[in-house]
Formats: sequence, C-alpha cells, structure tokens
Amino acid sequence: MKNYHPADLVDILRKIENLIRPGVVYQTNGDRVKVRTGELITAWLPWFTHRAGKSRTWWRPSVGEQVFILSPNGNLALGCVLPSIFSDANPAPAKSEDGYLVTFPDGASFEYEPETSQLTIKGIKTAIIEASDQITAKAGSKIQLDTPLVECSDHVTFKSFSASGGGAKGSTGTLTGNVIHTQGQLSSNGIVLDSHTHSGVKAGGDSTGKPQ
Ligand SMILES: [Fe+2]
Repeated sequence: MKNYHPADLVDILRKIENLIRPGVVYQTNGDRVKVRTGELITAWLPWFTHRAGKSRTWWRPSVGEQVFILSPNGNLALGCVLPSIFSDANPAPAKSEDGYLVTFPDGASFEYEPETSQLTIKGIKTAIIEASDQITAKAGSKIQLDTPLVECSDHVTFKSFSASGGGAKGSTGTLTGNVIHTQGQLSSNGIVLDSHTHSGVKAGGDSTGKPQ
C-alpha cells in the first residue's frame, strides 16, 4: 500500500473542503461574481443559470445573496456559483403552498397564487407588450381600464357603447373632425336627425317652428 505524505493528505482535505463551499456574493461584474467564503474572496466565477443555449436566461445573483460554490476537483478557481439560499439578510418573501412569487429591489413583484387563481403584477412603472401581429385579451365578464385616459393612435371599432360622463371632462362628450352616420336613426333628445318635420311653415322670411 502506498504511503501518503502528510502534505498530500492536507491537499486532499483542502480539496474536499473546496468541493462545495457556502458563501455570500461579494461583488458583481457582467456575467461573473466574486464570493466571500470563510476568509476567502474568490476570483470572478460564473453562476448557474436556467438556460444558456439557443434559449437563454439572465438573472445575476446580487451582492449579499447567499450561494454555494461548486468546484470541480476541489479547485476553487474552476468554481461555479449556485444560487440561492434565503438568509437573515434576505428572508423568504412568501409562505404560499404552491404559489410563485418574484420580488424586485424597486418594490415590483410578479405573483401567481393557485389558491385564488390570481396573477398579480404590481409595483411597476411602465409595461410594454409588443407584438408584430396581434394581441388578444379575453375575459369572461369584463375588462376594466382604470385610468384617466385611454388613447388609440389610429382606429377603434366596437359593436355598441354607452358614455355616461362624470370623468375628467365632466358630462360633456366631444367629436372633432368629420362624422359619418349610415343606417339606423341618429336622434337627439327624441328628435330624429334625418326624418323630423317642422311645424308652422309658411312661405316667406319667417323661421320654422321647432323640429318635431
Ligand atoms: Fe330641422
């Protein structure tokens, strides 16, 4: 049997210790991070991401985040950073049984809770959904736009509408530009625009009576 020199054993123990090391992200730069682990601060190391092929994801661990370093052959220089473990500094943000929640440093969150079947995205300032073809929003009973202004840059079509006033412009509705009405009746306070008659008509310069 081969006799190992004590120095070899020290080296083996050091490698075993380095195979998997807990640590806290110390510094970030591009697609690398440095991790403080024990008394050590690592070199710039890559971190594990969900996908890094034809499809790719980006979500870099942040400074102070608790992680593990997995080092092939116990060589810390080859280490890869595996995120993440909750810590006292960054505790779990939810207790849901089956829900999904992402929280962001600006206070925004993205959550789905199967218990209520509700998707909630909040705390954001702007949202952009861009489609080269079509966007469909479908709801069983109502789509509510809770905002002072709805704006369309071109054309709007709908099957029916009602306007009740009371918004920022009070009870006054305005139409600007040409208006074309075809088929059906266009009436105002009971007077039909294209078929009403006038009373008190006689030849001469008098005005007609009111429309009937
Ligand atoms: Fe008239």
